[in-house]
Amino acid sequence: IERTFLMVKPDGVKRQVVGDIIDRFERRGFVMRAAKLMNVPRELAEKHYEEHKEKPFFNELVDFITSGPVFAMVWEGENIIKLARVMMGATKPEEAQPGTIRGDYAVTISENVIHGSDSPSSAEREIKLWFNDELV
Ligand code: GTP
Ligand code: MG
Repeated sequence: IERTFLMVKPDGVKRQVVGDIIDRFERRGFVMRAAKLMNVPRELAEKHYEEHKEKPFFNELVDFITSGPVFAMVWEGENIIKLARVMMGATKPEEAQPGTIRGDYAVTISENVIHGSDSPSSAEREIKLWFNDELV
């Protein structure tokens, strides 16, 4: 059984869609294993997005993720890493299908409501980074 790291970004928390997002994953049959509402220290944001540190949008990305509280979660279920990415929708707003989280709530590439780990190695790294020894 697989685990992934999901995070409602500051725009999603402000727009009060945390409940809807939890509901979507629960209805699909996945199980929440850990969760917290938190402000993100800049150092944690930089580590989380370190694969993008050479990109032109890196500073904007870190500014955004530290701009307000996020809702960080660990979820568990069969093939959840891939399935969560499908439920989230594409990164580019014009490719995010209606019915997906981003396709229902987001119109910009930067304020896109949710993060989900993109591979088993990312999931392992991100779960450790955000929850280290607090895991249930
Ligand atoms: P995350 O779940 O947040 O990691 O998104 P993702 O995996 O769908 O996309 P990726 O890891 O490639 O990029 C991380 C985040 O950087 C995205 O969620 C976007 O918010 C942002 N991003 C990606 N590409 C661009 C870009 O070209 N311009 C800007 N401004 N932001 C971008
Ligand atoms: Mg990513």
